[in-house]
Amino acid sequence: MNTQPSARLGNVLLAVAGGIAAYKIPELVRLLRRAGHSVRCVLTEAAGEFVSPLVLQTLSGAPVRSSLFDAGEEGEISHIELADWADLVVVAPATADRMAKLAQGLADDLVSTVLLATRAPVLLAPAMNVNMWSHPATRANAELLRERGVHFEGPEAGELACGWEGEGRMSEPVTLAGRVTLLLGGETWKGVRVLVSAGGTREPIDAVRSITNRSSGKMGFAVAEEAARRGAEVVLVAGPCPLPTPPGVRRIDIETALEMAAAVEQEFEASQVVVMAAAVADFRPAEASALKIKKEDLAPGAGLQIELVATPDILKGICGHKGDRVVVGFAAESHDVVEAARRKLARKGCDLLVANDISRTDAGFDTDTNAVMFVSPGGEVEELPLLPKIEVAGRILDRVEKLRKGTR
Ligand SMILES: Cc1cc2nc3c(=O)[nH]c(=O)nc-3n(C[C@H](O)[C@H](O)[C@H](O)COP(=O)(O)O)c2cc1C
Repeated sequence: MNTQPSARLGNVLLAVAGGIAAYKIPELVRLLRRAGHSVRCVLTEAAGEFVSPLVLQTLSGAPVRSSLFDAGEEGEISHIELADWADLVVVAPATADRMAKLAQGLADDLVSTVLLATRAPVLLAPAMNVNMWSHPATRANAELLRERGVHFEGPEAGELACGWEGEGRMSEPVTLAGRVTLLLGGETWKGVRVLVSAGGTREPIDAVRSITNRSSGKMGFAVAEEAARRGAEVVLVAGPCPLPTPPGVRRIDIETALEMAAAVEQEFEASQVVVMAAAVADFRPAEASALKIKKEDLAPGAGLQIELVATPDILKGICGHKGDRVVVGFAAESHDVVEAARRKLARKGCDLLVANDISRTDAGFDTDTNAVMFVSPGGEVEELPLLPKIEVAGRILDRVEKLRKGTR
């Protein structure tokens, strides 16, 4: 894998809103330009109170726009041309007000109109007082925007300009510039082969019955999709699930744990990154009847004994000969999540364990969102907020990148 981000250079439309963190935006413009991107800035009326348009114009090397109805500005490049020009729109700082406007679909000034008109992905870098960020209205707006596919970076916790302490700091320009590179990317994982397992397995009892579990496959499919979007060659070993194959992904459909073990072992050798998100059965019926077991063949009222035998431990098996591959495992836990995850990581020997709390109704099995913890071999735990699974996938791959660079 390339260790340096080598994303496609792109047109970044930077929408600056009226928050105190706007003073950091000239630095962001500088970093984006240094990375080779073309940058144009649009300002809300309030943003002009916090950062000089002249500074942004000088650093971006392009005229700055802030008014929707200025005939001169509109004549030079119309708001629709701006929206079309962008490969990515970044709103930084994203004020509570801007998030509300975008969630509502308002288009009453230049920035809000461009945000509605653009077809480019949108990245928000929220920055505000901790109480504004935790207000139910802002929470609901953020959630709605995430559901619509808007990307978020931050806010981070720490000391706020308003004197309060807590979540609300805009992410640092260097973090934002890195995220832009990733979002514009697609080539950063070029040449890397990623093996992903997803979904549950189905262990036959007889011709019609089976033992399975509640895994929907959504998390593993999101990892495969995100890895492919980053330019990786992706092989997805999938248990039975109706999800469409993500673009550019080679899919191998399997049913049982034994089939999954065989497919993973076969694809493992040529892969550099392995993400085992599947919920593989730990036990399977020792023998599956080729015919349907009929009730009338049993004594009246008698139960049916099914002998279960252990299935191979796929994750442990591959970790035993993983070489310099990065292997990520998943754990679905209903209680004592962190401790159980630490024990599992130690047993399996993987490089990162992603732990789900399946007792939550908004995370884990068959949801579009997930709240996970990253557990590292050193025992460190990073808890992520509730995020769409595609965002969780991005965070996992960001971690894998760091592991491959040896920085984490
Ligand atoms: C000194 C000062 C700092 C402010 N900082 C923030 C901020 O960090 N985040 C925020 O959401 N609003 C902040 N506000 C409030 C916004 O400026 C206000 O909501 C404004 O209407 C936002 O306009 P815009 O979203 O069109 O840029 C601040 C206001 C003042 C006076």
